[in-house]
Amino acid sequence: MSVRPWLPSPLPLPSLLLPLVTLLVASAALTRAISISHHSHGHRGPSAAAVLSSSTQSTRALERRAAFLSALRQLPALVTKDRPGTTVLEIPEPPVLPHEKEYMDAWVQSGFGGPDVIERREFLMPSPEPHQVLVKVKAAALNPVDIGRRTGFFKGFMNESFPFIPGYDFSGTVEGVGKDVSRWRTGMEVYGYPHEIGVRPQRYGTLGEYLVIDQSFIAAKPKSISHEEAASLPTAIMTSLQAFEMLHIKPGDAVLFTGGAGGVGTQAVQLLKHYCGAGYVATTGSGFKTQLLEELGASVVVDFLKQNFTDVLKDLDSAIDATGEWWECLQCVKEGGHVVTIRGGPGRPANVPFFTVQARGSDLEKVHDLYEKGIVRPVVDSVFPFDSLPLAFSRLETGRVTGKVIVRGPSL
Ligand SMILES: NC(=O)c1ccc[n+]([C@@H]2O[C@H](COP(=O)([O-])OP(=O)(O)OC[C@H]3O[C@@H](n4cnc5c(N)ncnc54)[C@H](OP(=O)(O)O)[C@@H]3O)[C@@H](O)[C@H]2O)c1
Repeated sequence: MSVRPWLPSPLPLPSLLLPLVTLLVASAALTRAISISHHSHGHRGPSAAAVLSSSTQSTRALERRAAFLSALRQLPALVTKDRPGTTVLEIPEPPVLPHEKEYMDAWVQSGFGGPDVIERREFLMPSPEPHQVLVKVKAAALNPVDIGRRTGFFKGFMNESFPFIPGYDFSGTVEGVGKDVSRWRTGMEVYGYPHEIGVRPQRYGTLGEYLVIDQSFIAAKPKSISHEEAASLPTAIMTSLQAFEMLHIKPGDAVLFTGGAGGVGTQAVQLLKHYCGAGYVATTGSGFKTQLLEELGASVVVDFLKQNFTDVLKDLDSAIDATGEWWECLQCVKEGGHVVTIRGGPGRPANVPFFTVQARGSDLEKVHDLYEKGIVRPVVDSVFPFDSLPLAFSRLETGRVTGKVIVRGPSL
């Protein structure tokens, strides 16, 4: 069967010219709108004023896009109208680019309480400030702090303002950058922790389709691990390295980390051995988890259901408390030894400092090769699809997880 040319003659030239000119003008306007939108990302952020400006600009970009599409659609209509046998030109819908989107898919917290205070709905797209990167989230991890933020346990010192997107850890791809960012480019795979300090979280956490993050809070994802595995790491690595720094751990030291089977512990135990070069790594766990912890490199694992670790561990150089057992930790270190707690708790003496983790992409870089080469490995407890966040929370709330609970991004 012969296909007739898609532009049959005779065709009245003026009637073709008009939509063509409209198309060119709209196309130029659209290109300009996109470049304005790109450029202005550098000047906008998620503040109230900035959100308004972002929304207005996105709306203009969408209007121009609509004009462009409408002009484009007039062409095939002219060509095919009442002309049987002519080839119909299919015009595909162009994809909506992240900077054209006004809203995104997210889990949004709007009060304190049970699982119901976090609901899945549309939320304003964030735009990167000059020093920020826009990331599409492929996977996020839950942390105990997300439970405390949801229930209101931390409301005394976290000063929350609703609504916000919860979540601290992510792995994903760069989708746009602010004007001062030169290191990161669209398409790069990165992972990190978006809140400068854990107790001062920003509005855009990791349980949404996109987030914006300071360029110094991310690192290149090790290629040999998946997004789910990478998302399990930022809090754990940064908390571990920052605790090691506070304790001045040296190669050969004997160190205790309590609660080794948790999200932080499974990485801390490995990093003590392979990053610090600790000579003796002690930890606590129960049941089958003791075997896993030995496989991860622990020199000794005290099963806390069978024994008090204070009966077994003596004269250690340092201890990191992740279970609220800082007093017991003090019994295990030698004179002049140091204890730090990441769990906190009242009544602590001055020699047991508590700290909250700070976002530092440089910490992730320091251990990049250990993960890339498989010397240290992520430990993932479970992976949930995006729409099963309530189930993921229930899993973490058991307090019995081994490693991290992961939630896939909405696009996966
Ligand atoms: N300060 C900071 O910046 C910071 C940063 C990260 C985390 N944290 C805090 O650090 C703590 C640990 O975090 P995470 O993410 O590792 O928690 P997680 O993943 O929820 O820890 C769960 C694990 O802890 C084990 N566990 C519970 N009680 C234990 C005990 N008495 N002795 C030994 N193991 C015990 C459980 O083992 P079983 O099933 O055997 O009980 C389970 O495997 C949390 O309180 C968290 O809020 C603080």
